[in-house]
Amino acid sequence: MKWLNKQNYFVKYLICISLFFILLTILRLTIINDGDLPSNDNSIYVKNNISTDDEKYHINVYYPKFLNSDINKIVTNWVYTYIKNFKNDSKDMDAKTNLEINYLIYFTQDHVNIFFDISNSINLKDINKSILIDLNKDKSSQITELYNEEILKEQLKMAKIKYPLFVSDVILGEDMNSFNYLINDKGFTVYFTNLTYSKEISYIPSLKVLEGDFVLEEKVIDENKKMVALTFDDGPSGQTLEILKCLELNDAKGTFFELGINMKRYKDITKRLYDNGMEIGNHTYSHKYLTKLKLSKALEEINSTSILYNQITGDNITLLRVPYGSINSTIRQNSPLPIISWSIDTKDWLYRDPEKSAPIVLNHVKDGDIILMHDMYESTTELVKIIVPELKARGYELLTVSELARYKNYQLQPGVVVKEMN
Ligand code: NI
Repeated sequence: MKWLNKQNYFVKYLICISLFFILLTILRLTIINDGDLPSNDNSIYVKNNISTDDEKYHINVYYPKFLNSDINKIVTNWVYTYIKNFKNDSKDMDAKTNLEINYLIYFTQDHVNIFFDISNSINLKDINKSILIDLNKDKSSQITELYNEEILKEQLKMAKIKYPLFVSDVILGEDMNSFNYLINDKGFTVYFTNLTYSKEISYIPSLKVLEGDFVLEEKVIDENKKMVALTFDDGPSGQTLEILKCLELNDAKGTFFELGINMKRYKDITKRLYDNGMEIGNHTYSHKYLTKLKLSKALEEINSTSILYNQITGDNITLLRVPYGSINSTIRQNSPLPIISWSIDTKDWLYRDPEKSAPIVLNHVKDGDIILMHDMYESTTELVKIIVPELKARGYELLTVSELARYKNYQLQPGVVVKEMN
């Protein structure tokens, strides 16, 4: 049986050699994986939770616990300090206080950004905090180390178009590394938290900066939300595009009742409004009192503007607003279009002062209102920058007149006069 023993020895030898190669392969794979770090590898942190609930406060905080102790120190330092301060602040409160923190995490090639989403019942405006860490140096980093400073500065200037001067001046005067950044594959959102204006406004200013092309999702509007329609008369003018940009940046829409004479002069602006999903209405050709004209002349004022609109956009105009709100039964009976009036008059053309017009809107606004402005004056552009973010913060959807009618089940028919849609 000697040949069999010999064969047994050979099998053992083969197994040993095979094991050696398998081991070598595993080792090599491990080395390659190590080389790839840090990527989106979850093994470099775990989700951790601190939660307490007693008669004084309810605390529920999630944060990433990093396996690297230097990185972990940066994160836990912030978390522990925040909780400690919250407990201190709670001492002066009569009612039970509440703190919830969740986080979103984003890895780039050599940075990790941790974005804490905060809900703090003592300080309602303390809504977030971001921490950026350099993974090569294992220490805190700054946004200007991740993005080009000059480009970032240009992008943040959009705040001037989105918000009133007393807000944007503060933003642009601050160090951009002090803001909170939520970063993802598509770009980033910057939150201008805890600045000096925050006592005067009810929202936290923010800007979304997108990179690359991606398809925007169709917006679904919650029918239970409060809705209003902003309307702008007498344009287009040199102010119109800045108002458009402000509406877009705030995810809002508006209806522009244009004069044919200005439509002709600013065809490109009319087209731009149309292409960007705004609604354009007919405000007659040359802003005459329709009630003082012969019916044929009055209809010509309306119809010539409708034709012009069709030539510029290829679409049909569907709404009319009569100049000076001046109307009689003849005009009503013969109007080819529904007539849109308003329920809130900002008197912007009279005051030319956003501080006088803004309270007219903000103190009276209600669901279904149609708000009258004129995209003719710089003061109106400034007014838009005040009321739009504020209305959004109060939970209003800002829609076109036709959208408002659709959501409120209003039948807009020729000759019908509509002031509001509650
Ligand atoms: Ni007018």
